[in-house]
Amino acid sequence: MTKFPKNFLWGGAIAAHQVEGAWDVDGKGPTVMDMVTSGSHTIPRIYDPTLSDNHFFPTHEGIDFFNHYPEDIALFAEMGFKTLRLSINWTRIFPTGMEEVANEAGLQFYDKVFDECLKYGIEPLVTLCHYEMPYALVEKYNGWASREVISCFEKFSKTVIDRYHTKVKRWLTFNEINAGTLFTGVVMTLGIVKDYQGPMLDAPASEAEKFQALHHQFVASARVVNYAHQHYPELQMGNMIGFLPQYAFTPNPADILLAQEKNRIVNWFCSDIQVRGKYPTYAQRFFKENNIQLKIEEGDLEDLAKGRVDFYTLSYYMSFCVSTDNNLEETGGNLLGGIKNPYLEASDWGWQIDPKGLRWLLNEINDRYEIPIMVVENGLGAYDEKSSDGKIHDDYRSAYLREHIIQMAEAIEDGVNLIGYTPWGCIDLISLSTGEMAKRYGFIYVNKFDDGTGDFSREKKDSFEWYKNVIASNGDRL
Ligand code: BG6
Repeated sequence: MTKFPKNFLWGGAIAAHQVEGAWDVDGKGPTVMDMVTSGSHTIPRIYDPTLSDNHFFPTHEGIDFFNHYPEDIALFAEMGFKTLRLSINWTRIFPTGMEEVANEAGLQFYDKVFDECLKYGIEPLVTLCHYEMPYALVEKYNGWASREVISCFEKFSKTVIDRYHTKVKRWLTFNEINAGTLFTGVVMTLGIVKDYQGPMLDAPASEAEKFQALHHQFVASARVVNYAHQHYPELQMGNMIGFLPQYAFTPNPADILLAQEKNRIVNWFCSDIQVRGKYPTYAQRFFKENNIQLKIEEGDLEDLAKGRVDFYTLSYYMSFCVSTDNNLEETGGNLLGGIKNPYLEASDWGWQIDPKGLRWLLNEINDRYEIPIMVVENGLGAYDEKSSDGKIHDDYRSAYLREHIIQMAEAIEDGVNLIGYTPWGCIDLISLSTGEMAKRYGFIYVNKFDDGTGDFSREKKDSFEWYKNVIASNGDRL
């Protein structure tokens, strides 16, 4: 018998800048991620707004979802999706983020996308900002470093909530907001890169700048949540955390304390504020020891208290270890790498595969907040090769997802209020960390390659039928 509740939201997840392409069509302005070149395992992606079009910027074409969305959504419907997580590209609506009037052509595009979903009974789950900060806000304000960006985000969010509230019932404010606590988030989520050119993951920002920028995001998120609650009480507003469990490498109490400290800042800090509506007590010491003196304006703390989210969402790909011993072997990861865990296998990109870690963290989140939880990203980025029969037999992908679904079922048995699951990149898309097409997550193959060739045609992989059966049996036939 299935352990998943009757209305469990099975689906998939994508983000505007990783799929849409059409980066300058119908008045769309550039985002910070439109200024990042492709890279690979060994070659870093470069952030450089001065490079011209003869460099390859993968977001400029994406997988051409902008033109293929009817076909793609029909395929999602065929798999039985109940929900599709996607983001609205901020600069389709406000090309610089600073206009007074929204771009009607951009608004109409998402009307069409949402209508297409609803035609099949697929509920859109919308991320307001999935690393899509207008580039003009970087130039003018140095991104979230400035308070002015709060009102730009509010204007954008209110515009799209007013427009789509009858079509979209669940909203997330910022994708992986906790990336802002890490060096990886400086370009992508904070946009603190004025006058910077260089490797995307090397952009400099002090701890003080990062946490000030995050404070602005917390206030912006809370104000938008509060606005939605006041005007449209039927809407459900959520946060989104890139959850990166960090286990103590040994039972040495020094390692245990280090793991606690790291998990607090990386995994709990942002959601403690967004779910509980206030800065956690442990922040005081962290701020003091890192020379962080937040500028908090009058009304900010009230805004945080009023703008608490209704549900908690997360991405989960991997876990790693931390230790006070600096000589241990490390491995790569999502947003952050860490020490290798001898009990885990890893993907071709070194991301350690840890399904039981998902059960553990879902319980931790539930114990802490007791609100509904949704896993809105999870999956295996892998090289897909066509077999001699011309098909992609990606049983490694279904194996990865199966093991995670089994652990979600266990977590539900444990008492976790898990309401949905949207595996990442349900259709192949541009990798965030490397900008590659070769790192594929999808149930649907997209004929597009890193050398720029390919005709964007779509094909079902074996995992397509597998996931269709999972959904049809509500998680019973794995
Ligand atoms: C998450 C992001 O960090 O991980 C996605 O929200 C991203 O945008 C996903 O694509 C997988 O990471 P990558 O680097 O394999 O694309």
